[in-house]
Amino acid sequence: VENTTTQQVEEHEFDMVVLSVGVRPRVDGEALRRLLTLSTTSEGWLMESHPKLKPVDAPTRGVYFAGCVESPKDVKDSVTQAGAAAARAGALLNAGKVTVEAITCAIDTDLCNACGLCVGVCPYGALSADKAAGKKAAVVAAACAGCGTCGAACPQGAITMRHFTDAQILAQVDSLLEKRGEEKVIVFACNWCSYAGGDTAGISRMQYAASCRLIRTMCSGRVDEDFVLRALRKGAPVVLVSGCHFADCHYIDANRQTVKRMYRLWKFLEKQGIRPERLQLEWISAAEGPKFQKTMNQMEELRRTVTAEEIAHTVKVLTEEEEKRRARQAKTARRRAQAQTPAEV
Ligand code: FES
Repeated sequence: VENTTTQQVEEHEFDMVVLSVGVRPRVDGEALRRLLTLSTTSEGWLMESHPKLKPVDAPTRGVYFAGCVESPKDVKDSVTQAGAAAARAGALLNAGKVTVEAITCAIDTDLCNACGLCVGVCPYGALSADKAAGKKAAVVAAACAGCGTCGAACPQGAITMRHFTDAQILAQVDSLLEKRGEEKVIVFACNWCSYAGGDTAGISRMQYAASCRLIRTMCSGRVDEDFVLRALRKGAPVVLVSGCHFADCHYIDANRQTVKRMYRLWKFLEKQGIRPERLQLEWISAAEGPKFQKTMNQMEELRRTVTAEEIAHTVKVLTEEEEKRRARQAKTARRRAQAQTPAEV
């Protein structure tokens, strides 16, 4: 045998040799994965809805995992997990009815232009639209889990997230920055991890900078580019978007959309002559109270580096950009109205 520690080849006499072989996911599991809209880890194992809160549930409701479908397991773990999966399925069947999330999206078909961007970002495949056929977006409410990623991606403002509407979130931004905005850091925190991390820090009595003001969203994927720009336009020196670590996102991989959006925003800010560092992204889990504390204190340090001139420049530039955007929108709306009622015009 080769002793991998000493890197020597050794000879021994054994009564029994037990070989440990690697385990790989099934190669023919792809069809099932697509059928049930399940997600996988980078190694190809099926991924649970949440490692701590829903360890046997698939992100697709009504699907449960047991055994090696999720990762290599011994018999004891497989049997334990099977018992939990059976109990979860039993509870669902015995209830006799299925309740859907209250925080789902609603689509205003008058505003929707069938672009299909929402379809591409939904981790649950709950939305459909067809640009070529002019079919506007539609949602299967039972499949929607309410992450809000579609609402953040819709450029027409045609998607409303119930209980986390744009108007509600923007009102929080405005009221937080109404007085002495230059002394505050706006923190968008996802419900399941970052916000809970703040709770952990709080109950552990960890002190952190009082300038950090939290706005809760269900997922970091809900943080619309407009929310961030509104905060900067209203005079926020620093904005932090924070959510779950990648594998922990409560909505499969919705936080990957957060990253894409952040890159777009960083690029945009740089183009406008605004320091991109003033927009920060951090992943904080529910258990990471110390990390939450450290991050908030770092944000406060960063806030102190932002000068009054920088804030004034940001407000000016972003207000001008917003006016241009509104003018474009009004022009498009006028064109659309003219196209719809040519006879009356
Ligand atoms: Fe926390 Fe998606 S639920 S980032």
